[in-house]
Amino acid sequence: MAVSRGEWSSKTGFILAAAGSAIGLGNIWRFPYVVGENGGGAFVLMYIVFVIAIGLPYMLAELALGRSVQSNPVGSIHAIRPGSAWKSAGYLGVLTGVGILSFYGVIAGWTVGYIYKMMIGEAGGFGEFISDPWLVSFLFALFLCITALIVHGGISNGIERWSKILMPVFFILLIGLIIYTITLDGAAKGLTFYLKPDFSKITGRTALAALGQAFFSLSLGMGLMITYGSYVSKKENLISSAVYIAFFDTLIAIMAGLIIFPALFAMGKSPAAGPTLVFVVFPELFASMPGGFVVGIFFFILLSVAALTSTISLLEVPVAFMVDQHKVNRKSIVWIVAFVTFIIGLPSALSQGASDLFSNFGWLPERLSSPDFLSHMSFIFGDFSLGFGALLLSIFIGWIWGADKAAAELTLGAEKFTLTKKAWMIMIRFLIPLIIFVILLNLFGIFG
Ligand code: PFF
Repeated sequence: MAVSRGEWSSKTGFILAAAGSAIGLGNIWRFPYVVGENGGGAFVLMYIVFVIAIGLPYMLAELALGRSVQSNPVGSIHAIRPGSAWKSAGYLGVLTGVGILSFYGVIAGWTVGYIYKMMIGEAGGFGEFISDPWLVSFLFALFLCITALIVHGGISNGIERWSKILMPVFFILLIGLIIYTITLDGAAKGLTFYLKPDFSKITGRTALAALGQAFFSLSLGMGLMITYGSYVSKKENLISSAVYIAFFDTLIAIMAGLIIFPALFAMGKSPAAGPTLVFVVFPELFASMPGGFVVGIFFFILLSVAALTSTISLLEVPVAFMVDQHKVNRKSIVWIVAFVTFIIGLPSALSQGASDLFSNFGWLPERLSSPDFLSHMSFIFGDFSLGFGALLLSIFIGWIWGADKAAAELTLGAEKFTLTKKAWMIMIRFLIPLIIFVILLNLFGIFG
């Protein structure tokens, strides 16, 4: 059915691309502020439990379906239940890809702007920066163009080679920054907030936030892992690949927190600052270090690259869908999807002060989202859609396709999986859909 389906050149190539998708703004920008808003250590602990107990086994399900049927989310469901309504779960994934890209690309644009700000030695002025309508729109468009250019030219080669060099550099830079911030005066308070769980801070809302963050960070719930899994060879071990992806993704997020929270408390700032946290704290940190702006330039370049490997994957899902299902030319559809995303994303770009209407949009109740349009999009697509999509896909894979078929697919290249097969089947059929369902219900206040 597919026009031309490739295969990853190697297991490392696949892990790199999938980890590249997973590691991004979600780890460095989103994770710390969500931790800050949800009270710190207890949230971090709950997050780790969700990654291991739900995210990882769920990721295996998406990968198994993708590799077995070798198609995009819509095509994969169609191949198993032609003509059924289940296909809408695939469409939801495609839509979610565009929805996330429309606000994610805006923030990715900011990171590029900050490379320049670091070059001219300017740490402050975040408020003016994000409320400049032309500047943010330009940076957003620029980021979408770079993303489209790479997806347009076929993905793997350039970006895989880049990631192999840049990701380790990023890692080393993060370690350096951790060492610096935990030796600052007052850092200990930050570490306590970040690492010492206070269970009284756990509520339904924080549980949803932790699950939403786990799915967002691991790139789950919209069929990305179905799409990327469709390019994996039958000889590869999907289990160990998934463990690597989840491990590195979580490690980078935890490391980001180890930089941010000690620095925050040392500077006497509140951890609940929300989405602007990273863009305010990191530059101030660099400004306070000798030679810090050079470190800052590197940091924002690498953060842009991390965001780029994620935007590529976000664009790839709708593009793969159009290429596979509608037989359109990849090269032109890439630009069309990018353009549509730009239009959908403009209100988000203008919602941080540039436009009154979008900055105080307020369609969603305050307990769900801040009033600005970008936060609305982030809640609808980044939290709710991923959770809902994962609910549908886990039921589809566990019950309609069949957990036994999925498990058989996972055993290819991973014979030892037979030992844990039964447990995994129970999880994907019962535990995972149930937990996601309860958390979604809770979101609408069903439990008061
Ligand atoms: N996982 C990415 C991040 O943490 O930045 C964001 C993302 C990419 C979410 C791809 C979903 C997705 F399919």
